[in-house]
Amino acid sequence: MDRTSILKTILNLPSPPAVLRRITEITADPHISAVQMENALRLDPVVSGKVLRLANSAYIGIPRTISSLHHAVVLLGNRRIHSLILGSALLGAVKSFKKITIPINDFWRHSIITAMIAESIAKHLKRYMTIDEDGVFSGAVLHDIGKLALEVALPGHVKEISEKASFSKKPFYAAEDQDFNHTIAGDCIAQQWNFPSDLRNYILNHHQPLNENCCSINLTIVHISDIITHILGYSLFKNEIPPSISDDLLARIELPLERLKVIAATVLQDHKRSEALLQVFE
Ligand SMILES: [Fe+2]
Ligand SMILES: [Fe+2]
Repeated sequence: MDRTSILKTILNLPSPPAVLRRITEITADPHISAVQMENALRLDPVVSGKVLRLANSAYIGIPRTISSLHHAVVLLGNRRIHSLILGSALLGAVKSFKKITIPINDFWRHSIITAMIAESIAKHLKRYMTIDEDGVFSGAVLHDIGKLALEVALPGHVKEISEKASFSKKPFYAAEDQDFNHTIAGDCIAQQWNFPSDLRNYILNHHQPLNENCCSINLTIVHISDIITHILGYSLFKNEIPPSISDDLLARIELPLERLKVIAATVLQDHKRSEALLQVFE
C-alpha cells in the first residue's frame, strides 16, 4: 500500500463523537473554565459518568465521595479529561475494525503508564522548573496513537516491524520507515480530529525531542517516560528493545537515570492508581 492509500484509510476513521468534538473545540483555548468543561461533558452522560468515576477512584485517592461533576472536573483538570476521552474514543474506533492484530490492552497500558510516570517526573521537576504538568500527562497518553492508525491502515504492519526490530536488536522506532512511521501516522489522525498543536507536537516528536524548540522540557519528559516504561517491561509486544536515553536529555532534566527509575517504580507500586485509570477510560 502506498502512502496516499494509507493516508486515505486513516482519514476514513470514524469522526469523533459530538461530546469530544465540543471538548476539542473549547480546549483550544487553554483558559476555559471548569464550568465550560462541565457543560460540554453534560452532552454525554456516559462520558460524564466516567469522569465522576475517575474522580472517585484510587487515581485521585480522596477519602470522601465526589458527587458533583464540577468538583470532578476541577480535581482532574480540563486537559487530562480531554486526553483520556480522546484516547478512549480512538481505542473504541480502532476496536471496531475486525482485523486488529496488536494487543489493544497492552497498547493502552503502555500509554497510561507512560502518562503516570511523566506526571510524576513533571511533579518532581516543577519544584525548580516551569513544567506543563497537564500537557505532559496528555501528550504521554496519546504519544503512540500512530500505531493504532497504522494498524487500521495496514493490519499486521506494526507487529511485523516489532518482530523485525527485535530480530535486529533495535528499538521499534529505529526499525520503521523514517519517511512514514508511527509518529507521522499519529499526526494524520491528530490533524483529522483537530488535536491542539501542543498535543500534535508530542505525537510527532516524542522520539526526537532534541530536534524540537518549543516546550522542549515537556517533550523531553514524555520521551524519557516512554523509554522508562519500555525498560520496565510495559511495551506493546514482548521482547521489544527499549530505545536508549541520551546523556544530553538526562542533563536537560537534571536527574540521573537511576533516580528516574526510582520515581517510576514508586508510581508502579501504587497499583490501584494505574488500574483505576486503565479501567475507567479503556
Ligand atoms: Fe512511539
Ligand atoms: Fe511509546
